[in-house]
Amino acid sequence: MTVADLDALQAAVDSRPLLDTFAPVRRATESHRRRHGCWAYSYADGTVLGAVAARVRPAAVLELGTALGYTACWWATGGGHVDTVENDPEHVRLARVQIGGVGLAGRVTVHEGDFDAVLPSLPGPYDLAFFDGYAPSPALLARLQALVTPGGLLVTTNLDLGTGDFRGVLSTSPDWRTRFLDGDTAASIRVQGEA
Ligand SMILES: C[S@@+](CC[C@H](N)C(=O)[O-])C[C@H]1O[C@@H](n2cnc3c(N)ncnc32)[C@H](O)[C@@H]1O
Repeated sequence: MTVADLDALQAAVDSRPLLDTFAPVRRATESHRRRHGCWAYSYADGTVLGAVAARVRPAAVLELGTALGYTACWWATGGGHVDTVENDPEHVRLARVQIGGVGLAGRVTVHEGDFDAVLPSLPGPYDLAFFDGYAPSPALLARLQALVTPGGLLVTTNLDLGTGDFRGVLSTSPDWRTRFLDGDTAASIRVQGEA
């Protein structure tokens, strides 16, 4: 992708179909969260990610923060394989059930463990990485830079959680070109040739 592609990406998001194919997975996540009292808050509108996936068609996707698999299912609509990472064993179990239930078990692999523990074991490179853990940290950006292919895309959410400094880091980093797609989601292209 090039920086000009960010404009096309924004246009694809703005004109996307609004049918939430995976609404049942989202509802199962909400219902689970109320019982479990956890942080399994689903991404607000998976159709945004579906529009990005349809535009980019990533062959390999890395997702941090599975919960019950709502966003992993949306990324799989791009036609590639999704590696998604989750440290809560109950979420991992339920995600495998939900993902299997919509027929995507062969296209999504749920890796159980903390991001820091699992990332070194993943092969990469990825055409697209998606952060939907709690709050992204600047340190995480360096790790994702090593895993996302040059010209690949990093999609980040929860920008207003934590210290909130990730938004500023993304805006000023020489290694990424960023567009804020909505109030809390950024799309960043990894600058070609940078390691
Ligand atoms: C906001 S939810 C993900 C929502 C999911 N993407 C969706 O839209 O349904 C964040 C998930 O990340 C997991 N998580 C948070 N920090 C983590 C970490 N350091 N390592 C692995 N998983 C983590 C939580 O257990 C939770 O299930």
